[in-house]
Amino acid sequence: MLSEVGEATVLIQPGKVYLVGAGPGHPELLTLKAAELLKTADVIVYDRLIQEEVLALAKVCAERIYMGKPVGKHDSRQAEIDELLVRKAREGKMVVRLKGGDPFLFGRGGEEAEFLAEHDVPFEVIPGVSSALAAPLSAGIAVTHRDAASSVAIVTGHEATKDTSRVDWEALRKLDTLIFLMGVHNIGRISQELIAHGRDPATPAAMIQMAFWPEEKVVTGTLGSIAAEVERAGIGPPATLVVGEVVRLREKLKDSQRDLHPSEGGPRFGSAPMPDQLLRMAMAGLGSQVLGFALSLALFDHLEEWQSATAIARRFDLHAGATAEILDSLVALGLLERAAEGYRNLELASVYLRSEVPQSLRPVLLHQLGQFSRWEAVAAYARSGQPGQVRSGQEASDSDCCECLAGFSAPAVVKRLDLAEKGPVLLLGWGGEAYRAALTRRWPDLALEIRNPLVGSDPLAPPPPNTYGAVVLSGLVARSAQEAELILDASAAALQDDGVLVLHDAFLPAGVLPPEVVLGALGRHLTCRPGGNWSIELLSAALETLGLRDVRAEYLPGGTVIVTSRKVRNGPSQPRKRSQTAAASR
Ligand SMILES: C[S@@+](CC[C@H](N)C(=O)[O-])C[C@H]1O[C@@H](n2cnc3c(N)ncnc32)[C@H](O)[C@@H]1O
Repeated sequence: MLSEVGEATVLIQPGKVYLVGAGPGHPELLTLKAAELLKTADVIVYDRLIQEEVLALAKVCAERIYMGKPVGKHDSRQAEIDELLVRKAREGKMVVRLKGGDPFLFGRGGEEAEFLAEHDVPFEVIPGVSSALAAPLSAGIAVTHRDAASSVAIVTGHEATKDTSRVDWEALRKLDTLIFLMGVHNIGRISQELIAHGRDPATPAAMIQMAFWPEEKVVTGTLGSIAAEVERAGIGPPATLVVGEVVRLREKLKDSQRDLHPSEGGPRFGSAPMPDQLLRMAMAGLGSQVLGFALSLALFDHLEEWQSATAIARRFDLHAGATAEILDSLVALGLLERAAEGYRNLELASVYLRSEVPQSLRPVLLHQLGQFSRWEAVAAYARSGQPGQVRSGQEASDSDCCECLAGFSAPAVVKRLDLAEKGPVLLLGWGGEAYRAALTRRWPDLALEIRNPLVGSDPLAPPPPNTYGAVVLSGLVARSAQEAELILDASAAALQDDGVLVLHDAFLPAGVLPPEVVLGALGRHLTCRPGGNWSIELLSAALETLGLRDVRAEYLPGGTVIVTSRKVRNGPSQPRKRSQTAAASR
């Protein structure tokens, strides 16, 4: 493909789009091919209901773009997704379009493939484990058990209330097992139609919510009672309905010994979308001026319902034309949607950008954006419609930011640790309460001590030596080289032999650096932290001098890194003096 850059003409090889089935959500139910593609993709475009571990397979510099919509809430963004896939492929990128279950079963994968074909974009479709079969299986329902069924139909439950439904209820009467997807809200209507067309109201039925997720729930009944049972149990989408005699046989199969447990989700990395996209924007400054200004107004608090640009301008005393332009930029960033009624929050904004929501990322975004951007210029423009004067802005404090980021990441860090046989754990740093919750959820009897030497009057009093099975340093090391040396020395000394040192911080990962990490490092360098950018290589060398081995680093979505290491037996028990600062800036 030929692309024009100024006067020059550059030849760009078109990329390829893989439409990949992610299975019903559990990372171990990915196909090997899907895992391999995720590891190499330049861009991953994903929906809701993709677990964090699945996205964590991506290479560090991959661009992850969330394009989901809350189940049953906003209208589809299909046209936007189609355009995005074509655009990224034309940039020469290898794109994975990750879809729940199987891409061609009620997933609009067919339409996406058609669009790519029409636009001459090379593509390939990789099948996935469909929830239509995996959800009944998880509940112990063998959908074509020889004793009870020789046919099975998979039907959309979405059309049950439509006058123009293409569902042939008459034909469904004659089939043994019926599986309805997208049927939770229409369950009453589905059972009525089936009974009206001759299915016995006593036919067994089961609804399976979020199979292979921590929220998995199964409700059983009959065709006559299932709607009421589903309502009573508070079952919500996504859930799969199974109707037929096979449901009865579940009694014998439902208590199988399962190795494949639902993976631990935790509220932040559960069914909500991954906020990676937001953190990347904050780290990189991409779109940051507009986003920072919108956050400083708490704009997203006012956009849960449709609002016109004029109403927003009036509410905040802004210039109408400039406001529309700013709202359009937020649409382009994937945070708002626009229709004839005006603008309203898309899911990322709704879940993470309002002030009072439990998962609010507002403090961390305000702080990071304030470090590197000048959104007062946007504010001045929004008020006057004239380009404004540039001044710096910083609305959330450093501590707010550290606490928010550490607390946000705590469940993901804890998920990657194995502290089952470890003695007392010492947590030093930010996010103490979030760590306490995540650690005690996994290991209820774990002895835990929490201190933050950077707040209050607890400046680095050294913890007792040879005492802890694990020391977790949360957000302490990337701050300042001198403090970091003291903290590392004291932490290594405090560990028992074989104890584990865990560091979670904004380290520079090895290998190819994603743009937000490079910009973030530059930002830290320019602001106030000489020597604050630790690369993984330098950190490993520093840990080795303290008698720590098996250094492993893992990049977390959002731009931070977890480094674990183990104290070897008979390693140096006293802190060593290092002649020079191990930290270096890049
Ligand atoms: C738009 S369809 C997409 C189906 C997907 N292509 C597949 O093959 O699984 C979404 C529906 O799949 C079902 N579903 C998806 N994930 C599920 C899960 N983990 N447990 C139960 N049902 C699920 C629900 O009926 C949901 O409304």
